[in-house]
Amino acid sequence: MSETVLQLKNANIYQAENLVLSNVNVELQKGDFVYLIGKTGSGKSSFMKTLYGDLELTEGEGSIVDFKLNGLKEKDIPFLRRKLGVVFQDFKLLPDRTINANLEFVLKATGWKEKPKMTERISHVLDKVGMGTKGFKFPHELSGGEQQRVAIARALLNEPELILADEPTGNLDPQTSIEVMEVLQDINKNGNTILMATHDYALLLKYPSKTFKCDENKVFEVVQRKA
Ligand SMILES: Nc1ncnc2c1ncn2[C@@H]1O[C@H](COP(=O)(O)OP(=O)(O)OP(=O)(O)O)[C@@H](O)[C@H]1O
Ligand SMILES: [Mg+2]
Repeated sequence: MSETVLQLKNANIYQAENLVLSNVNVELQKGDFVYLIGKTGSGKSSFMKTLYGDLELTEGEGSIVDFKLNGLKEKDIPFLRRKLGVVFQDFKLLPDRTINANLEFVLKATGWKEKPKMTERISHVLDKVGMGTKGFKFPHELSGGEQQRVAIARALLNEPELILADEPTGNLDPQTSIEVMEVLQDINKNGNTILMATHDYALLLKYPSKTFKCDENKVFEVVQRKA
């Protein structure tokens, strides 16, 4: 049975007073891997920000995991974010501490208390992204691709119901992009639902999947031509 993890109905997405995307209707089911494409400034990040509560949804309806996006209260946002794993283009690791300490920081901030359980969870997610032996390193001691894998591990810590990745390969060279993409494909095969914004068409061709496009203030599904 399919299970809806994200639904937007007639949603209008604004940046300040500007309507960036109008009348958005999008639905994602558990287990999906969905791309969001579109040229620079077309609204991909605005779309993502609406989903993790960084932009308020004031017109239309939206629900994500168990939360209603319209009328979402400031105090609910941390609880929404715990059900989401968010990955950004620029990794956003804390530079002053090791990878293990970066992940422990997130666990503590989300209510984990027992050190052995935290250690076990950290090594589990690092193993998942092929970084099991690098937890003692500092972010600056890792390559961009490795840092992004750690950021994906961090997103997995609290078993998110949906992973939102905004241009996760945007800062990486083509070969490293493929390696990070393989990690995302793997975790999707293991049941994680992923929405990924990208303008890397080479990745789309190599890993075809359901695709929505932002263009001229609209979001619509595009059907990829078979080679
Ligand atoms: N904080 C902001 N305040 C006002 N306008 C903004 C803000 N952030 C983005 N915008 C505008 O909203 C529109 C959509 O931007 P958005 O960042 O969503 O595009 P994008 O598709 O993610 O682009 P990119 O591929 O460059 O990341 C653009 O016109 C942009 O200038
Ligand atoms: Mg963007």
